[in-house]
Amino acid sequence: MLSKRSQPARTEAAQPEQAGPQHVAIIMDGNGRWAQKKGKIRTFGHKAGVDSVRAVVRFARTTGIKSLTLFAFSSENWKRPQEEVSVLMELFNLVLNSEVKRLHKNDVRLQVIGDVSAFDDKLKAKIAKAEALTRDNQSLVLNIAANYGGRWDITHAAKQVAQNVLDGKQQVSDITEESLSSYISTANLPELDLMIRTGGERRISNFLLWQCAYAELYFTDVLWPDFTEEVFQQAVDDFNIRQRRFGLTGEQISV
Ligand code: IPE
Ligand code: IPE
Ligand code: MG
Repeated sequence: MLSKRSQPARTEAAQPEQAGPQHVAIIMDGNGRWAQKKGKIRTFGHKAGVDSVRAVVRFARTTGIKSLTLFAFSSENWKRPQEEVSVLMELFNLVLNSEVKRLHKNDVRLQVIGDVSAFDDKLKAKIAKAEALTRDNQSLVLNIAANYGGRWDITHAAKQVAQNVLDGKQQVSDITEESLSSYISTANLPELDLMIRTGGERRISNFLLWQCAYAELYFTDVLWPDFTEEVFQQAVDDFNIRQRRFGLTGEQISV
């Protein structure tokens, strides 16, 4: 019997158009524990995590991943101690200052998903400027989920569809998965293929709820600041040997 790992990667029939994951999302977890293990305060871990962000962007760009969605701040993270929230906001500002030029040079499009209305005006302006500058870039979409929640995303889409109905632009009977999907924040990106969570927890924590319907999930105990291109490669290798069946039988996929 063939071991799981020696089975053929994915058949032509299963994934005709792609050689690997096109859209990868990462729940970047474990910064606080990483810092605490070193006897440092939690925010030290958030700062160290920025290097891992650079590494995954480089990996995605150089291995043909078309979209990378990173969970930077959840809608629930506001409930953390005020000082930690402030450091995270400051860090977001600093990273926008220091990285956008390089992202643009590397043909990366930066996009932010989530309820940005909650951010202060300076941060909102910086996000808008970075999105405008990089909007035509083609190599990679770097999608940062900030003040993001999967339930918020679905609710936000549902509200827009409801408004369309009220305005007479759409009938209730016309609402389909596809039409609702077009209002979900990742509508311009390929379907989510792979969701990685670092830091050892095995949960979604209100990340891409709609989008993860048929994503492959990969959990690693590696804490985010220790995440490297090698660990990313292991996750992609694991994805590449899985058979995605989308409700079909294995036989239907391999003919
Ligand atoms: C993830 O690391 C970063 C954010 C949520 C902003 P954590 O800060 O959750 O780190 P742990 O899980 O407490 O170690
Ligand atoms: C998820 O991590 C959010 C981000 C990585 C930004 P959390 O640390 O907030 O998740 P829980 O609280 O452990 O579920
Ligand atoms: Mg955490």
